[in-house]
Formats: sequence, structure tokens, C-alpha cells
Amino acid sequence: MEKLRVAVIVGSTRMGRVGDEIGRWAADRASARAGLDVTTVDLAEFDFPARYPEQATEPMRDFTKRIDHADAFVIVTPEYNRSFPASLKQAIDYAYDEWHGKPAGFVSYGHRSEGWFAVEQLRTVFTELHVVTMRDFVGINLLDDDLRERERQADTLLDQLTWWGTALRNARPYVS
Ligand SMILES: Cc1cc2nc3c(=O)[nH]c(=O)nc-3n(C[C@H](O)[C@H](O)[C@H](O)COP(=O)(O)O)c2cc1C
Repeated sequence: MEKLRVAVIVGSTRMGRVGDEIGRWAADRASARAGLDVTTVDLAEFDFPARYPEQATEPMRDFTKRIDHADAFVIVTPEYNRSFPASLKQAIDYAYDEWHGKPAGFVSYGHRSEGWFAVEQLRTVFTELHVVTMRDFVGINLLDDDLRERERQADTLLDQLTWWGTALRNARPYVS
């Protein structure tokens, strides 16, 4: 069977972010699975416009192509003021059909809440985009990180993402 194409999207573009390191960890964990073909989509690498333009720019088109190419997503997000960062919302809104009928799982991080609020808000956003979100997620408390627990949560998340990703990839040709 063709490998499931998983895009790990790194949502923080903040100077001095920890998101790049957590994104690398998530991509490595996913890459260890034989059935997954993993790429990283790091939003810090895209020169997006300050204002939503009338015509899509080259970086916007590049981003939507990467979304189109993927069968499933792992969204790596911090929590900023009980939500997810603006950089992530900006990018999500550039694609539409490219998201449809695909699953997304979350690796979130923050202080004591472990990014829980950010994840719950992302679920609402992805509902509009016909994205199925995984029930279980990796929640990292940056003040008290437990790598074994992180790995255990990642394995559960990747099991769910693989199941949904395979099922939805098979079903996508029949979408009306
Ligand atoms: C503007 C801002 C708001 C934040 N708000 C929260 C918050 O509501 N809850 C939380 O757990 N952590 C919060 N934090 C802490 C971040 O989760 C932490 O700084 C994390 O490293 C940010 O991710 P990044 O380094 O990848 O950008 C906030 C950080 C920033 C910069």
C-alpha cells in the first residue's frame, strides 16, 4: 500500500520559539512508522503577506500545494492567551478544498494547560474545513515535560491518524 503522506505543520513563527524543536520531535516520531511518508511544513519558512491579498502570492500557492499533497496532518501549536497563534490561523485560511476530507491530529504545548485551549479552538476551525480531528492529542507542559508520557500520547495519536488517514484517502474519490 502507498505510504500515507503526513504533513507536520509547525504553527509558531515567533523569534526564539520552541515550536521548531517540538516540530522536529513530532516529525521524527511519525517518521519512525514504516507506513508514513512525513514532511514538515514550517510556517516560519513562508513569506506570507501582511494583508490578505486579492490574488494569492507565490508563498500562499506553495503552502496550499503542500496541504493538497498531504493525506493527513499533525498540527504543532503553542497556546497564546488561551488560543492558537495568529500565524497558524493566517495559513489555515489560505487553503480550503485542499483541507477537505482529511484528518488532523495535534501536538500542543504551553504551560499548565498543555495547549488544551488552543486545540479545542482549532477543532472548531477545522470543522468548517471538513477536517476530522483526532480525539487524543499530545499535550506538553513546558514547565514539567515528561518525555515518556509525550511518546505514549504520540503513539496513540499516530494510531488514530493512520486509521482515519487510510480510511479517508480511500473514500476521497467518492466525495460528491
Ligand atoms: C503571547 C503569548 C501568550 C501566551 N499565553 C499562554 C497561555 O494562554 N497559556 C499557556 O499555557 N501558555 C501561554 N504562553 C506560553 C507559551 O505557550 C510558551 O511561551 C511557548 O514557548 C510558546 O510557543 P513558541 O515558543 O513555539 O512560540 C504564551 C506565550 C506568549 C508568547
